[in-house]
Formats: sequence, structure tokens, C-alpha cells
Amino acid sequence: MSKISKVWARQIIDSRGIPTVEAACLLDTNEIAVASVPGGTSTGTHEAVDLRDNDPQNWMGKGVSKAVTNVNDVLGPGVWGMEVTDQERIDARLIELDGTKNKSKYGANAILSVSVAALKAAALASKQPLYMWVSTLAKRAGIKEEIRVPNPIFNMINGGLHGAGNLDFQEFHVIPATSKSFSDSLRSGVEIYLTLGNDLERRGAIHSVGDEGGYAPNLFTNADALEVLYESIKQTPYQMGRDVFLGLDVAASVFYKNGTYTIRDKSSPLTDEGLLEYYKYVNSQYHLALIEDPFHEDAWESWKKLFDTFQGQVTVVGDDLLATNMERVQKAITEKACNAILVKPNQVGTITETIQVIKTAREAQWKIITSHRSGETNDWFIADFAVGVGSDYVKFGAPSRGERVVKYNRLLSIEAELLLRSQK
Ligand code: PGA
Ligand code: ZN
Repeated sequence: MSKISKVWARQIIDSRGIPTVEAACLLDTNEIAVASVPGGTSTGTHEAVDLRDNDPQNWMGKGVSKAVTNVNDVLGPGVWGMEVTDQERIDARLIELDGTKNKSKYGANAILSVSVAALKAAALASKQPLYMWVSTLAKRAGIKEEIRVPNPIFNMINGGLHGAGNLDFQEFHVIPATSKSFSDSLRSGVEIYLTLGNDLERRGAIHSVGDEGGYAPNLFTNADALEVLYESIKQTPYQMGRDVFLGLDVAASVFYKNGTYTIRDKSSPLTDEGLLEYYKYVNSQYHLALIEDPFHEDAWESWKKLFDTFQGQVTVVGDDLLATNMERVQKAITEKACNAILVKPNQVGTITETIQVIKTAREAQWKIITSHRSGETNDWFIADFAVGVGSDYVKFGAPSRGERVVKYNRLLSIEAELLLRSQK
């Protein structure tokens, strides 16, 4: 039995240079754990509130000193003395202290920092690797999946709000076949990433990288980005449709204005119908394995139509649509709007609520994709979380940049550790 004796927070910066919250949880048995929270750029409107100071004189309005104070003065003292392995009670206490539906009083960033710091401290107290402790909690919530190292979804080309302003779609993915081990998948991802970089250079399309480490090239259309990716894969030993697949996170809410979608592939703005036709064309050319956020986050009818059209062929992923929010997940299950969820703990604000959402999605036979955010720190917690809840996939960006590779490298280490344990 270990009790929380102190929790405190500080402001640090994320991979975009934007402030974020880091919290530390000290136990009466002397263990200490530190956790920092990520931040989104293309945040959905249905996410829990990421509390910012909004003071233009400081940190361009992006400071989190209020969230830090909320941890130090209210949330931390609120969980002092609690048994640290009692994650569900700790999270219930944090939710009760905040008292709002969207965690707007103290901030989901403040709340999640305490929730994750407690989780990490509990793993230390129970002398288990973090992923195993997460698995204990998942099982306790009724999730049946065993620990597994998920398949990676690599974000090779960054557009939208993450790129350099010349592609509308946010992410162009390469997804290795699920039959591969994680280490083989990582190797194919890296070889394709480096080949793509050389190709872009040869074409004279600058290849600086975007927020998630994927290239942010100078191309004319979104389809061009898929074509370049397709051509690059052809130069590697990997066969499209057998070894690797393509996917898209369109993040369509970002370019949806006044009832239409403006993309550079078309001379005039598209209606929802027109955009669906465009996706049909793209799929006929590139055989997408998945499509995320194809329409804006409240276009339920269009989502249903697309899901119906692509059923069985393309995995339809809800990110902004669902916002890791139980009510929205239940609605999407009932309405048959998608069949996979992008899980982001900071969209909801506590570990317990995140696990409950995963359980509900699993019961509907959805795929689980555990995800980073565009603004990350070097905290690799999300890798252990993905393994512990038995995710099918992880989305941690390109295989490049420290804050992305720290998560992929953690998965490599867990893969090796699981093998060693199985050989004991
Ligand atoms: P975000 O992007 O972290 O900026 O929201 C990630 C995503 O849309 O999947
Ligand atoms: Zn997304």
C-alpha cells in the first residue's frame, strides 16, 4: 500500500515550443513519478478544455500557469493521502473537484497530468512495468485484450495545420501489414521514409519536416502526395497491398468553411457529396487501408454514407468526430458512422475515462488506435498505455524527431522485453 503524499506541477515546453504541464507524484514510500501532457494543433471542438492563460504578453497567450496553479493548489491537495493504485477513485476525485462536463474549470491538461503521474507512480509502487500496470487497470475495467505491441501507422507527409501550408489533408500514412512484428514494421517504415526524402529532394520539392516529423513538401495537390508516396514505395523491397498500405488523416474540419470543402485538387469548393466522390476516386487509385476524419466533426450523415460506401474495404477512423468522448462514441456506434477510434487521453482528461471509452469501442468490435498529439514531449507514457490496453495500432508520427522516436523506441524495448519474459 502506497499513498500519495504530494503532487506538484510546473510549466515546460512541447515539441512545437508551446508550453505544457508536467506533474510529479511523490508517494509516502518515497517513489516519485513525473508525467507531462501533449497538446493538439487541429483540436476538435468536442474535446475537453486545454486550459491556456490567454495572456498575449506572455508565451504568445499559450502559457499554462493557471493550469499549473490548479494542480498545485487544488487537484494535487485533493488527492493527497489517497491509495495510489486506486486509479479509478483518484480520477473520480479529479472529475468531482472540477465539476464541469468538459473540464473547463481546472483544465483537462492539469487534470490529465495528475492522472498520468499517479498512474506511473502506481506502477512503481506495484513493482510492475508501466504497460503491465495499465493492463491491470484495463482488465479491472473489463477489457479482455491481452498485452500486445501494436502495429504502427507512420505519418510520412504532413499537410494541413501541421505542414508548410501547401497540402490540405493533414497526414499521409504508410501502414505496414499487421502480420509483421513491430521491429520489422519499424524497419520498413524507416526505409520508406528515407526513400521518400531522397525522392522529394530529387524532384526539387523541399523536404523540411512538419509538426509530426513527416515531410512537408512543395507539391501541387493532395493526390500528388499519395502518388509520390506510391512511387517511393515502389523503389523499396516492400510491395503495396501486401507488405504496406496507405492511409489518410484528412482532418477535414480544418478546411470546411461555409458548408463546403476547399481542396487544391479541385477548382471549385466541394459539397459533402462531391468530397465523397473524390474519396471514391482516391480509393480506386490507391486502395486506402484507412481514412480518418473524412468530413467535419458534426457531419454525421456524411460519415454514415461514407462508412456504408467503404464498409469492409477501408477502416473509417473517428478522431475529431469522437474526441475520446463516451457520448459521441455511443452515438457513432448506434449510427454506424465509423469502425475505429483514435484514442487520445488528453481529449477527455483522465486515464479511467479513456479506458472506459476503449472498452465501449471494443465491445462494438471497433479497431483501437492509440495516438500522440502534434505537440509532444519526450514522455513515452502513451507507448506503454497503447500496449497495456491491447491497441491494434499506434499513431506516433513519422519515424523521426526525438519526441516521436522516443515512443517507437519504447515499443522496441517492450517487444524485446516481452520476448525475454516469454522465454523465462
Ligand atoms: P493534433 O493532430 O494533435 O494536432 O490534433 C493529430 C490528429 O489529428 O490525429
Ligand atoms: Zn486526426
